[in-house]
Amino acid sequence: MNKFKNINPTIIVIFGGTGDLAKRKLFPAFQNLYLDGRMSEKFQIIALGRAEKSNEEFQSYVLDNLNTFSRKKGLSDPETQKFLSHITYQSFDIDKEDSYQRLNATINSFDQAFGERANRLFYLSITPSFITTISSNIKKIGLAANAKQDRIIIEKPFGYDKTSAIELNEMLSHTFKEEQIYRIDHYLGKETVQNILAFRFGNSMFEPLWSRNFIDFVQITVAEEVGVEERGGFYEGVGALKDMIQNHLLQILCMTAMEAPASLEADDIRNRKADVLKSIRRIKPDEVDHYIVRGQYDAGFIKGNPVPGYRQDKGIAPDSNTETYVAMKIYLDNWRWQGIPFYLRTGKRMEEKQSSIIIQFKPVPHSSFSYGKEGMTPNRLIINIQPSMDIKLQFMTKKPGLSLSLEPAEMIFDYFSCSTMSPEAYETLIADALAGDPTLFMRWDQVEQAWDAIDTIQQVWKTIAPTNFPNYKAGSWGPEEADELLARQGHAWIRNTQNKIKEEILDDTDIQ
Ligand code: BG6
Repeated sequence: MNKFKNINPTIIVIFGGTGDLAKRKLFPAFQNLYLDGRMSEKFQIIALGRAEKSNEEFQSYVLDNLNTFSRKKGLSDPETQKFLSHITYQSFDIDKEDSYQRLNATINSFDQAFGERANRLFYLSITPSFITTISSNIKKIGLAANAKQDRIIIEKPFGYDKTSAIELNEMLSHTFKEEQIYRIDHYLGKETVQNILAFRFGNSMFEPLWSRNFIDFVQITVAEEVGVEERGGFYEGVGALKDMIQNHLLQILCMTAMEAPASLEADDIRNRKADVLKSIRRIKPDEVDHYIVRGQYDAGFIKGNPVPGYRQDKGIAPDSNTETYVAMKIYLDNWRWQGIPFYLRTGKRMEEKQSSIIIQFKPVPHSSFSYGKEGMTPNRLIINIQPSMDIKLQFMTKKPGLSLSLEPAEMIFDYFSCSTMSPEAYETLIADALAGDPTLFMRWDQVEQAWDAIDTIQQVWKTIAPTNFPNYKAGSWGPEEADELLARQGHAWIRNTQNKIKEEILDDTDIQ
């Protein structure tokens, strides 16, 4: 908490200030930080966009959006009005040096008003193809000349494969030092994702069990109900592997599998995460089909409502081969996890929104209890990241009654019972960037390793087009091949339907 007291005067420049991310996430995050007293008294947001607008017009546009997207709405709230007065709009052409000169003049005028040279935070909320132009102009004009005070936040994707990411990083390094670059993965800002570290390393009882000796397998699911919505132009040609696996799912994998860091210092934590990424077993081109399944949704029904197939979505080619679903089996070649499969899956237009980690423990070595025809339900630890935010431990207990038979039970820690108002991921991340704490951001070696881990898959998929797309129905749990991927090993995706899990356990129908 103390770090917020030390937030220095800061000028925040948002490239893409009129874009979707800014309106849905960035301005609400800044507003909430401001209302919670987590911004310096001296701060200014300069939003850049192509259109001509006055400050008043832009501030009223931000206010409308806050009322739709912010967790603390506040149309009539005087504090929100004060917050708005800290926003300046400037029309901007990314390709024109003159625009950067004008930006420089604006920044300098705020420095003068503050009576000191403020920190500068450049937020790049734009398509990656503009990063090079922006970065080289920032260098040319000297906008980020102070390595201790100036930072840049870059949204994913950082490059589109390993080679392009290396090039991008090399180019950025002409303007920014590594410690100035904050590569964002918003999953790392989620409360429940951060709690994985607290849960693992703030308790002694799980650590002895947290290895190949007691764990049978791990499943990480990030399922979405939504399709590509208005983002077809971006998503087409990108796909789930690059959009979700390379970043969000591999980061969750790191949090689940990493060794204890020597301290909570940024580099100690990031070193241990980088170790996990390095230990991911690299697969050969002819093994890709054995370890990974790709899918694309067809028309179907979600919660009873008809939805079109991916190829019918706006901005999508009618013969598109972009994958909207990936399931994969990962092995980590290290002492702790040798031989234990980590199953990762993510998809759009799935039956329900659900992000979770399921740790399945090994079965008891021998059981004298009688328990149905399926045998006993293994012990499981389920960490629900969203929309449920809880941790469940499932175990067997004696069924009340005269006979000695067992039934599954669970213990639950539910976030909502502790707090109904947890900060949004972007609030946490922006607060950290303002305070100069890079722990929750991706260091370059992590990004490079993450690209390396999926490089072969990308290359094989680029050359061999799928023959069976679309291969899963919207509203389902993905293609059948994803079930086969686990069945080969005698495993199955565990049904973790949010809120219904208790009844499911009691019915003992735990296979999806
Ligand atoms: C983004 C992806 O990074 O994460 C989107 O680009 C995806 O395709 C989104 O929908 C999911 O984020 P969340 O926080 O809604 O789970």
